[in-house]
Amino acid sequence: MSRKLMVAGNWKMNKNLMEALTLASQVITRAKKMSGQVEIVLAPPSPYLHTINSMSKDLSYVKVAAQDCHHKTSGAFTGDISASMLASMNLAYVILGHSERRKHHHESDVLLAQKVSAAIEAGLSVIFCCGEPLSVREKKEHELFVLQQLEASLWHLDATQIKQIVVAYEPIWAIGTGQTATAEQAQEMHAFIRNSIAQKYTQTIAQTTTILYGGSCNPANAGALFANEDVDGGLVGGASLKAEQFIQIIQAR
Ligand code: 13P
Repeated sequence: MSRKLMVAGNWKMNKNLMEALTLASQVITRAKKMSGQVEIVLAPPSPYLHTINSMSKDLSYVKVAAQDCHHKTSGAFTGDISASMLASMNLAYVILGHSERRKHHHESDVLLAQKVSAAIEAGLSVIFCCGEPLSVREKKEHELFVLQQLEASLWHLDATQIKQIVVAYEPIWAIGTGQTATAEQAQEMHAFIRNSIAQKYTQTIAQTTTILYGGSCNPANAGALFANEDVDGGLVGGASLKAEQFIQIIQAR
């Protein structure tokens, strides 16, 4: 059964305006020469979303993602951005549940469930991040930990809504550390996530859900990670900030 292959670049809080536009333009120029079999997603900081989305609009397989959204549609929430605002810019995706937001902004599973619903109701697809800290993996409780994250923030969705979710497995110990999960560790967790979706929803939905790996993904390890049956692509941090490295990772998919 076919499912969407994807490589997404999460730029986090990096790049000034000129740097961001340069990087986007370098990636888009290279993307034009690609087959379009892999969807390429750019997730720049929010001030640049609209411009970068306009730059990429002629390429159907290049999409733009926001890095967060608020759970309410509008109101007195200074500094926040709603899902409907993102949708009004014709963005395709929003990243939710990233471990950095869970940690630094104290985002709970319950809040994330609300954000996921807000995004889907606004018409966005969600790249939903999950993943365990090292202490949990050392206790061999990583599968239960990830399952609880999925249950708490996604399982309220109905069978139509869950199709708007891309899952990104990002073990916290692998993010920005250079300590990538092995291909076996990634495959094992991705298969577990897919099986959990099959049990909650259907085998068909599970088989068509895109599941990305994130955490110190780079041109040297991307090929081995993506060769696994259940690894449909990557959510790339540091290596997405350099066009050449990001392109090499896309080409590894
Ligand atoms: P790194 O690729 O820098 O480890 O970051 C991964 C990540 O957090 C992507 O969302």
